[in-house]
Amino acid sequence: MDDDFDPDLTDPDLFGDGPPHEIFQRLRDEDPLHGHQPTSNTPDGEPYWSLTRHEDVAWAARNADLFSSAGGGDREGGGTLIEDLPAGFAAGVLFNMQDDPRHHHIRRQLTPALSPRSLRRIRTELAGRCDRLLDAALERGRSDVLVEVAAELPLQAISSLMGVPQEDRHFLLDWADATLDYDDHNPGETSRRASEAGAAMATYCTRVLAEKRACPADDILSTIVHADLPPEAEPGGPLSDLEQEMLFHLLVAAGSETTRNSIAAGLLALMERPEDWAALRADRGLIPDAVEECLRWASSTIYNRRTATADVERHGRTIGAGDKVVLWWQSANFDERVFPDPHRFDIRRRPNPHLSFGLGSHFCLGANLARVEIELVLDGLLDRVERLEPAGQVERTRSNKHAGFRHVPMWLRPPEAGDEDE
Ligand code: HEM
Repeated sequence: MDDDFDPDLTDPDLFGDGPPHEIFQRLRDEDPLHGHQPTSNTPDGEPYWSLTRHEDVAWAARNADLFSSAGGGDREGGGTLIEDLPAGFAAGVLFNMQDDPRHHHIRRQLTPALSPRSLRRIRTELAGRCDRLLDAALERGRSDVLVEVAAELPLQAISSLMGVPQEDRHFLLDWADATLDYDDHNPGETSRRASEAGAAMATYCTRVLAEKRACPADDILSTIVHADLPPEAEPGGPLSDLEQEMLFHLLVAAGSETTRNSIAAGLLALMERPEDWAALRADRGLIPDAVEECLRWASSTIYNRRTATADVERHGRTIGAGDKVVLWWQSANFDERVFPDPHRFDIRRRPNPHLSFGLGSHFCLGANLARVEIELVLDGLLDRVERLEPAGQVERTRSNKHAGFRHVPMWLRPPEAGDEDE
């Protein structure tokens, strides 16, 4: 490997125009277990390992005992961001930053509400919501599809599933945007906007959880506050107040931020390929494969980190207990060892073993929901729109963690009167 090649994957600007494909490709080819040295952007000023090949990322994700989401070795903090989060506050407490067995038992409480069966029940409600958003966007003709459609449907869906009043949903989204964006700060730092949003959200969350304790309903927050874990969850009984609050935050962030970016990335790709749009309009049976390709293409969660719990050999090197290991889902999704012609957006790609939802014990709990949301938007737009056309500057978020969009203006062109009958 060329000594001069020392990419800084902790620099959010590297991801400003989309995935840094050339860098990931070189790492996959030349240095699949890359020892990333700290730069001025790197939180904690510490080195970390980068896994970029599909096979290696999948290996680490499947081996949760060896690669912990909470922490490992002598390290005090941990979690799934490159920066160490304090143990007992986020690492080990926030649901996706916990290890089994506790993680497993909490997950069992949450799974039913997001199962295909439950989603079949709310599909009609979501389809109605989607129709209203699309009709309004079509009436305008020129639409910021990110704001008006792609962000709105997941936000309405997660508010409904959690049992949060719809009129509060934009407050939740503002919090998620402020916290997850690196627009005004770097990874590992905070900003005034993020701190203020965090404080307002904490007050809101405490109030809503208290309401659910007093008046349970058929929603995820009620499940969380009334959960009674078995002793094997260590400890059994209810989730701690902090666990409940952090889970609330996680569901808002995960439910609102990721799906919208997959919808936006997919629509942008389809806008550039009118022949694919026409093919989908003619054959809706192609939608499920197209949805998977939107997910791969967007790779909206760019990475998650783990901490090695013991020394482990890979590619002739030793990852030491306590070392940080970063699983670059986005790179794995473009690994030419697994995906033929990976830089081609292919609505017929099959198989499509993308890792956009992760893998193993932390596999995305919202995967079914996200798939339904993307499918509803695609299907609804295909019904109404003959052509998607650019209508202005696309704005991306600045982040090496979430591949996101802020604005995606498009003209939604309905078929000319009479065209559909021909
Ligand atoms: C396209 C949309 C989505 C993408 C790309 C995505 C991506 C991911 C990924 C990569 C993970 C694994 C994290 C890890 O291994 O450390 C994950 C976990 C998770 N996701 Fe999603 N997600 C999406 C939508 C959603 C939605 C809509 C929800 C809402 C319920 C959600 C809730 C969760 C939760 C709760 C976890 C933690 C699971 C666990 O630790 O057991 N996600 N997601």
